[in-house]
Amino acid sequence: MVWSSLFVVASSIAAVSAATPYRPGVAPSPLPDQAVAARLHIKPDTACQTADDARQPRNIQLAAWVECQILAFYPYPRTETADDTDWLPGYVAAIHPDGRFSWNNTRYNYDGFLKIYKGFSSAIGSSYGTGWQQWRDYYVASPDTWDPEGRGGVVTAHGFTGGILRNHTEAVNYPNAGYFVVKELQGRRWIWELREHGTSPSTTPLPEEGQKWVCNPTYEVCESGRERKEL
Ligand SMILES: *[C@@H]1O[C@H](CO)[C@@H](O)[C@H](O)[C@H]1NC(C)=O
Ligand SMILES: *[C@@H]1O[C@H](CO)[C@@H](O)[C@H](O)[C@H]1NC(C)=O
Repeated sequence: MVWSSLFVVASSIAAVSAATPYRPGVAPSPLPDQAVAARLHIKPDTACQTADDARQPRNIQLAAWVECQILAFYPYPRTETADDTDWLPGYVAAIHPDGRFSWNNTRYNYDGFLKIYKGFSSAIGSSYGTGWQQWRDYYVASPDTWDPEGRGGVVTAHGFTGGILRNHTEAVNYPNAGYFVVKELQGRRWIWELREHGTSPSTTPLPEEGQKWVCNPTYEVCESGRERKEL
């Protein structure tokens, strides 16, 4: 085959694939009304009570518990003082010391994640003052993701981070999301796993090397004798 006919073959394949784009079964936008309605909106003022209100559906209790924790541990400044660290007790109370955490594509243990949260705290504090909004606009928490052996389960949070930069008047907002695995251990709930990712520009890059997660034989296949490369 000569070069010119090869080129014709290659370009006609390209033309076919451009003409037949991948089509998922459901139009992505606008969202169907029932999908919008199924998102959980948790009231921040009552989240901590709702978390332990047995009259509420269990997925609402769980999402409310996560909302209550985020309000306490998210490292935005509580006052005009940029290094205000009121969020630290919330972090210690919510995040299990043996858990696993990630930000974007980097994995961390408890100490590593705390370190990047401290970095976020000072960056948010110096950039935004008190006008910071968190990423808890709505939750997805299915009753089926409730852990039958405890008050834990799986929740995702979606929303925006951002706010009004110091000395600015208009807000900047960036999509952000989190995937939470909540476990009941020692009679109380903990955030056992948090995978967070966001699009807010960061002047301090994440440490490239996170920490390896310990394989959990309860729900993972752990290789004995040697470290797994991927978890
Ligand atoms: C921002 O505003 C503060 C007062 O609120 C002022 O001291 C500071 O110089 C301003 N910074 C810039 C970069 O304009
Ligand atoms: C996470 O990834 C997004 C998209 O690449 C990037 O905009 C953002 O700055 C990253 N966050 C951090 C803290 O590195």
